[in-house]
Amino acid sequence: MQTPKNTYIHIPFCKSKCHYCAFTSTVNLKLVDEYVNALIKEIKFRYQNNIQDTIYFGGGTPSILPVELVNKIYKLFDLNDCNEVTFEVNPETVDFDYLKSLYEIGINRLSIGIQTFNENILKLIGRKHTPEMALDTIRYAQNAGFKNISVDLIYGLPSQTVEDFISDLGKVKNLDIQHVSLYGLQLEPNTLFYKKTPENLPDSDLQAEMHEYTAKILDDFEHYEISNYAKSSFQARHNTIYWQNKEYYGFGCSAHGYQNGVRYSNTSNIHKYIETPCEHEIEHVVSEKEKLEEEIFLGFRLSNGIDVEYINKKFNIDFENKYNDILKKYLNTEYLKQTKNGYCLTEKGFLLSNIVLSEFI
Ligand SMILES: C[S@@+](CC[C@H](N)C(=O)[O-])C[C@H]1O[C@@H](n2cnc3c(N)ncnc32)[C@H](O)[C@@H]1O
Ligand code: SF4
Repeated sequence: MQTPKNTYIHIPFCKSKCHYCAFTSTVNLKLVDEYVNALIKEIKFRYQNNIQDTIYFGGGTPSILPVELVNKIYKLFDLNDCNEVTFEVNPETVDFDYLKSLYEIGINRLSIGIQTFNENILKLIGRKHTPEMALDTIRYAQNAGFKNISVDLIYGLPSQTVEDFISDLGKVKNLDIQHVSLYGLQLEPNTLFYKKTPENLPDSDLQAEMHEYTAKILDDFEHYEISNYAKSSFQARHNTIYWQNKEYYGFGCSAHGYQNGVRYSNTSNIHKYIETPCEHEIEHVVSEKEKLEEEIFLGFRLSNGIDVEYINKKFNIDFENKYNDILKKYLNTEYLKQTKNGYCLTEKGFLLSNIVLSEFI
């Protein structure tokens, strides 16, 4: 039995739903106490008391939880050697005292949902905070002692111009932030934007231009993963285990985990989860073929790309022979290049990663 050293915990609550977001969450905050009790039950049932290297509280909006409840969950884990405990924060929900208390119980990394600093666009996408609240949250976090702060930005938002986006990047650059997650807007089923597509969305050329500016403006960050930029030594340790295709615990409503070669997920129905938190809804034994495909798909998300010798040994294959046609086809383009140890996508390749990588699957 392998015991994962990394844990994801889902907190499925939000004060309100943003127009673009399909993450599992409810605005029924009356369920918080019952939910946390169920979550604790699941953790006690499944967690094997082994030391954790990373813990990630994601959502929804973890910062909806009172710090006492966060501590109750957090205390269940053996964290002697724990390197990174990340907590997702929405500026709408926090003040200085809250962040200071989080820091004091041992949370050492914050991921703050900024999306944009443009007041008009924040309204158009259904965010309830102002740019000032976002800036305050970053300042509070720094004053509370956090030295590892990540922000989420989205590009391709309704009415967003390249200049708007450049202004967002400029603000981030001047804020002593260590990490940026940058997502292109996706129109996800079960969202307001999916039902009624906003009119003034930037087209794909404009989106590509915005993407190109990111690396230019955030020139003190490394673009180490398709959607992530970090200053040196601040790469997200927890998320990196996903891209390295390693195993991890997943706890909570709609959480996914990977253990002993089995990928599992919990129900995304919060009532059902509260009733039966220890039952996985889906369990899937990952076949060798799927493992190899996942390794390639996830590995190419990283700027280092894939290590051919490592893959050959792990899967007992000759990678270059097996994928000769695809490699030949894309090495002749601007999307794929050879590295010292294997292959990686280029900046242009990152933008078209779905097309290139689907060929391997
Ligand atoms: C769980 S939320 C982060 C924490 C908190 N709930 C908040 O919104 O401030 C995860 C992040 O995913 C990104 N996201 C969610 N839906 C998206 C979409 N449809 N397109 C692009 N990015 C999206 C946003 O940047 C968001 O901050
Ligand atoms: S982006 Fe964050 S706050 Fe908005 S609905 Fe999604 S999880 Fe909730």
